[in-house]
This record gives sequence, C-alpha cells and structure tokens, in this order.
Amino acid sequence: MDLTHVEGDLDIDQTLYTEEQILARLREMAAEIEVDYEGKDILLVGVLKGAVMVMADLARSLDRHVEMDWMAVSSYGSGTKSSGVVRILKDLDTDLTGRHVLIVEDIIDTGLTLSWLITNLKSRGPASVEIATLLRKPDALQMDVDVRYVGFDIPNAFVVGYGLDYAEKYRNLRDVAILSPHVYTD
Ligand code: IMP
Repeated sequence: MDLTHVEGDLDIDQTLYTEEQILARLREMAAEIEVDYEGKDILLVGVLKGAVMVMADLARSLDRHVEMDWMAVSSYGSGTKSSGVVRILKDLDTDLTGRHVLIVEDIIDTGLTLSWLITNLKSRGPASVEIATLLRKPDALQMDVDVRYVGFDIPNAFVVGYGLDYAEKYRNLRDVAILSPHVYTD
C-alpha cells in the first residue's frame, strides 16, 4: 500500500519515514551487526506480527547466514496502550541453548513486552541475547534494558505502517506514518 495513492482514504497525519529511509537505516544496522557478530552464528527472533517487515528487510541486508524464528505473544491491553502482561501464543521452534539470539522488534514503547521477553529467552540458556528495533519511543529510555541496535528514536505518537498496525490495519503501508489521534480518541 502506497500512501501517495490512497492518502485521502486513510487517517494518517504525516509520513515519518519513507520506505527508502527505512531500508537505508536497516542496511546501516546490518553492517554494524555483521561486524559485532563476526565468527558467531546468529538466530534472529522476530515477534509477530509487527516485526515481519523489519525481519524480512534486516535479514536480507545481512551479507551472511542467519537463522530466523518467530514468537507470537499477546500483550494484554486495549487500543494503543500495552500492559506488560504477556501470554505466549506461539513459541519458538528452536532450542536456544548456546545460541546468539538477536531479537528483532518493530517498536519499543514502554518496553514492558520486551523486558518480559528478554527474561523469558535468557532463562533458556542462550550464549547472548541482544535487541534490534526499528523504532524506539521516548518512554523506552526509562527501561533498564540495553537496546543494542536502534533504527530511529521517534516522538511519542502512535505510528502505523511497515508492519505496525492499529486494530490490524495499516500493516501493509510501505512507510511509517503517524496515525491521526482522532482515530483512537473518538
Ligand atoms: P511496549 O510493551 O509498550 O514496548 O509495546 C510494545 C508493542 O506495542 C509493540 O510491539 C507494538 O505491537 C505495540 N505498539 C507500541 N507503540 C505502538 C505504535 O505507535 N504503533 C503500533 N503499535 C505500537
């Protein structure tokens, strides 16, 4: 879905990052990852469904072998707020013992979901667990979790596109855009 063709139909305030900007930033992140993980096997762990696009483009930007696995979690909460109470809907297929795990995230807001995920994955005996996220909101800076790779620090707005949804819509928007507040406050 391309914003320029359908803008009139969508509740979008402004484009924050275009597809080109996102892909360029992911290539830079991939270059850093290649250096940091030289000589190590990487297992990329994506969190469904939001991280699908980031995983696809980050993985393809890496000029080396990587494995990919997926988890689906549900963070209880309604609308645009997350609660930190997490339930596993689909677990990994991979045994994490001795693995270098790189969690691939679309966005970190409060970081509650991520803190829970890190504790959970670390309990499975991996060699390392690090995080790569395309987007990070200001509240995430308060978390005590170190995020090793950050694409963009963004303002505190609700964003959609490039895998991110509002009520399961807008995931297929190519860019990342700010959703008009009236959509979720009306
Ligand atoms: P956190 O636990 O507050 O960090 O929220 C993490 C999850 O909430 C993300 O993986 C998204 O699914 C969702 N989320 C947080 N902010 C946004 C947003 O601006 N747009 C779409 N989803 C979001």
